[in-house]
Amino acid sequence: MHKIVLASNNPGKIHEISHYLFPFGVELINQAVLGIPETGEPARTFVENALIKARNAALHSGKPALADDSGLCVDVLGGAPGVFSARFAGEPKSDSANNLKLLSLLSGRSDRQAHYYCVMVYVRHADDPAPVVVEGSWHGEIAPEPRGERGFGYDPVFYLPDYDQTAGQLDLGEKNRVSHRAKALEALISRLHDEWNDH
Ligand code: IMP
Repeated sequence: MHKIVLASNNPGKIHEISHYLFPFGVELINQAVLGIPETGEPARTFVENALIKARNAALHSGKPALADDSGLCVDVLGGAPGVFSARFAGEPKSDSANNLKLLSLLSGRSDRQAHYYCVMVYVRHADDPAPVVVEGSWHGEIAPEPRGERGFGYDPVFYLPDYDQTAGQLDLGEKNRVSHRAKALEALISRLHDEWNDH
């Protein structure tokens, strides 16, 4: 197995990424298990935040590290909540409060197009001069009310017309075939497959 530190404390992301990478011989070590402190997300773009998180995990662990920075971008809100998705309704962060805030902002509006966006950054060590950067997005609409208990974050209000379901109703296998995170992970595997197999 190829051991990588995952620079995330979000249980929903950890579950999805582990499930996706395990069949490729990748074992993720959660940074919390190693006592690695969170960096916060100080930057204005997903890619900068992901790079900061990945470097921090590699620095403290001495191992290769993978970070995911992701969020929901709603067209009519100019791309918000974007990098602020996790704390859209303030501290302490709460998925249900975020969903309620989003639904109330969109109340009575018919333009409900949105997409999830995910950037993943992989560094072989903290000073890696050539990090692997991949991305993915997933388009949908903001539902009028929450539906489904699966997934995490905004999934109960992220409606997918092709399925006539919200992401909160999809099973993990299906979400991991089509989501923003799945697309980023697919690109990551195709970039790193040979490198991982040579070691
Ligand atoms: P990060 O840890 O700052 O990248 O937080 C990402 C936030 O974006 C999460 O806390 C969710 O609110 C939202 N998000 C990202 N990906 C997903 C997803 O797959 N489903 C639901 N919400 C997501």
